[in-house]
Amino acid sequence: MSKPAVRVAVTGAAGQIGYALLFRIASGEMLGKDQPVILQLLEIPDEKAQKALQGVIMELDDCAFPLLQEVTAHSDPMTAFKDVDIALLVGARPRGPGMERKDLLQANAQIFTVQGKALNAVAKRDVKVLVVGNPANTNAYIAMKSAPDLPAKNFTAMLRLDHNRALTQLAQKSGTQVKDIENLIVWGNHSPTMYPDIRFATVNGESLEKKINDDVWNKENFIPTVGKRGAAIIEARGLSSAASAANAAIDHIRDWVLGSNGKWVTMGVPSDGSYGIPEGIVYGFPVTTENGEYKIVQGLEINEFSRERMDKTLAELTEERDGVADLLK
Ligand code: NAI
Repeated sequence: MSKPAVRVAVTGAAGQIGYALLFRIASGEMLGKDQPVILQLLEIPDEKAQKALQGVIMELDDCAFPLLQEVTAHSDPMTAFKDVDIALLVGARPRGPGMERKDLLQANAQIFTVQGKALNAVAKRDVKVLVVGNPANTNAYIAMKSAPDLPAKNFTAMLRLDHNRALTQLAQKSGTQVKDIENLIVWGNHSPTMYPDIRFATVNGESLEKKINDDVWNKENFIPTVGKRGAAIIEARGLSSAASAANAAIDHIRDWVLGSNGKWVTMGVPSDGSYGIPEGIVYGFPVTTENGEYKIVQGLEINEFSRERMDKTLAELTEERDGVADLLK
């Protein structure tokens, strides 16, 4: 007998990332090749967006995915999030001409307050939420604060793309394979202030930092390259990362649900106070995952350089949090 279907909501489903994401969820890449899924897709009520969403659904139909039990289109989060087990919050307001960072925060705060409230009202109590839409950490924080009846730990933000970007940079520099690298961390905000930390990373059990043995490269090349990779993709492609972002979302949820088998992965999660990060701030941490739960890796030594970098990205997050505080009252 086949398993009961898992209900997955995806917002911004007619966007770029949605187009790279939905087909992979439906084919079983996220939850396993024996796990049926139901997709509940949310787009803004705008006629053009809803029509585009219908087009995407037509294509999903035309794939005849054996695991896809049902697809529904929504313009209201209250129906889109009904009974969902997983919610991928991808849709967000992009920065428009003349829009300041603060305006962007406020526009997104409105979206994520509404969506947090809807999740609070109608989603499964153990719903796993991944926020992809930027500013992802703060949007996750807003949704979490707007959903007081759900456990705060259900709300996460996507740092996995940064983690994956860092993995490949390291493999290329050290002449090794991505699959052999472990214990990499990306601390903090999904923004250029993030801190990819290679101090604990190993390749086939050997210290990667020692193998590379180039601190100047680490500080002046690697860290900024990972931090500015999003902008470099926009510069090259004329559009922001979509396939790699969708891939990271699949990795994030797959590991959360099915386990990371002892491997460290980076997730943006509400802090429990670990490493001096104030409780509740959604911050990139190294975690391991098992039985559908994540645990922050504990006991890592933080040296002076790391502390400085971790505090810098934290300062940006506390500023973002303070910038939306009035909306969360
Ligand atoms: P896109 O503009 O192609 O698609 C976004 C879609 O979301 C649009 O179809 C729009 O109509 C929809 N949308 C907007 N507000 C919505 C709402 N309130 N409810 C439902 N749908 C809504 O953008 P793209 O390329 O798919 O990117 C989506 C977001 O992901 C952006 O905020 C982008 O900055 C972010 N992103 C995050 C990454 C990360 O690593 N965390 C990496 C890459 C992108």
